Amino acid sequence: MYLTPEQKLVGRRNFWRMAVRGSNPDRFKIETCVPRHLTGGPVKGAIVGVGRQGAGALLEACHKDFIDIQAICDINPVHRTLASQQLVAAGWKQPREYEDWQEMAQKEKLEVVIVATPLWTHAEIAIGFLQAGVNVLCEKMMAYDVVSCHRMLDASRSYHRLLEIGYPRFYEPLYQAVYENFIRPKVLGDIHYVRLHTHRNQSWRWDEKAPSSSYNPSRWGYPDWETLANWRMYNRYSHGLVSELGSHQISLVEWFLGSTGQSVYGSGGINCYKDGREVDDHIFMTFNHPQACTVELSVILSNSFGGLYEEFLGSNGTLIMSDLEGGMFFPKEAGCVMGEPVAGKDETTPCKSNWDVAFRTEVWSFCSAVRQGTPLLCGPERALKSATAALAGKKAIATRSRVEISTL
Ligand SMILES: NC(=O)c1ccc[n+]([C@@H]2O[C@H](COP(=O)([O-])OP(=O)(O)OC[C@H]3O[C@@H](n4cnc5c(N)ncnc54)[C@H](O)[C@@H]3O)[C@@H](O)[C@H]2O)c1
Repeated sequence: MYLTPEQKLVGRRNFWRMAVRGSNPDRFKIETCVPRHLTGGPVKGAIVGVGRQGAGALLEACHKDFIDIQAICDINPVHRTLASQQLVAAGWKQPREYEDWQEMAQKEKLEVVIVATPLWTHAEIAIGFLQAGVNVLCEKMMAYDVVSCHRMLDASRSYHRLLEIGYPRFYEPLYQAVYENFIRPKVLGDIHYVRLHTHRNQSWRWDEKAPSSSYNPSRWGYPDWETLANWRMYNRYSHGLVSELGSHQISLVEWFLGSTGQSVYGSGGINCYKDGREVDDHIFMTFNHPQACTVELSVILSNSFGGLYEEFLGSNGTLIMSDLEGGMFFPKEAGCVMGEPVAGKDETTPCKSNWDVAFRTEVWSFCSAVRQGTPLLCGPERALKSATAALAGKKAIATRSRVEISTL
C-alpha cells in the first residue's frame, strides 16, 4: 500500500464521512461501549487459560457489573496467581483456583466459561463445559480440525447451550459500521478482489521464564516448558500463522462477502527463523470465492511494512481498514471527497479499530446472549466455515496444490 500524504487525507475524509454515519459515538469508547447491567445481575463465570489473551485481553474486558468471575483455571501456577491478583485489584472477590478444568467443571456452578487455552485443547474443554450445562465463549480458531469443530457445534445443540468463538472483528463497532455503511448497501460495487495482510517483523517466539526449575507440564501433554510457552510453533498444538493470525481475516472476509471460499492455493515456508519451529513463518493463500472474487492472504514475520490491513477492491471504489493508517475510502473518481464533514470529527486523524472496545463488547454480548437472548454476532456455524477454509489453506501449502474447500 503506497499512498501519498494527500491521498491518505482524502481516503480518511471519505472514510469518516461514510463509515460512522448513524453510529452511536458511545459505542466506540471503552467506558460506554456496553450498557453493562444485565437483567438478573452479573452472570456467574469462570475462565480457563489465563495467559496473554485470557488475562491480558479477556479478563481486562470483563467488568463485575456483568460477569462475576468466581473461578480461574490454568496449568501454570504463576499465571493463576497473577490473574487472581488482577481480579482482586479490579474489585472481584478472590477467585477459586484450579489447575484441572474438569475439576472446575464438576465443582463450580457456572453460567458461562471463557476458554483461552492453546488451539489443540479447545474442543475437549469446550465440549466438557457444554456437557456440564455451561455456555462457552471459546477463543479462535474454533478447533484444531474440522471434525472437532463439528463436535463442538453438535455439543452446543445437544446440550442446548450457547457457543461463541472469539473473533473480535465481529464485535468491533467500526467493523460493524463499515458493514452497515459500505458493505450492505454495496457502496464498493462488485468486489472481485480482496487483499488481507498481517505483516510483522518479529520472531513470534516468547521468552518467558518457567514457573520453577522443577516445573514439568508433561502430564498436560506438553513435553517441556519450551513447548508450553511457544505452543504456536509446534504442529501438534497449533496450525501456526493461519490459525493464530490469518483466521481473523479469513472470517472477516467471509462475513463481508457473505460467502466461503470454494478452493484455495497456497505456498509458504520457514524462510526466516530457523530456530526449531515446525510452523511456517511466511504463508500465502489465494481463495476463490463465488461471484468471481479472489482473496489473497499473506501473513509474514520478516517485514512489518504496511502492518495489518484489509483492502476491498470493488468496481465502484476501494476500502482499506488498516491498523496503522486507519480506515480509508477511495471512490472510483480519483481524488473525490464524498458527503458532508461529520460534526466534531478531525478528519485528518486516522479512524482506527479499538480492540479493547471489541473484547469488552464481545464478552458483554456473550453474557447478554446467555441472560437476555440477544444474538451472537459470529456464531459457531460461521466459525466452523472459516476454520474449514483456513485448514484447507494449510493443506494447500503443505501439498503445493489447489484444495477444494468443500471436500475437506
Ligand atoms: N482473539 C484474539 O485476538 C486472540 C489473540 C491472541 C490469542 N488468542 C487465542 O487465545 C488462546 C490462548 O492464546 P495466548 O496467546 O493467551 O496463549 P498463552 O500461551 O499466553 O496462554 C495460554 C494459557 O493456557 C494455559 N493452558 C495450556 N493448556 C492448558 C490446559 N489444558 N488447561 C488449562 N490451562 C492450560 C497455559 O498455561 C497458558 O497460561 C489461543 O486459542 C489463541 O489463538 C486470541
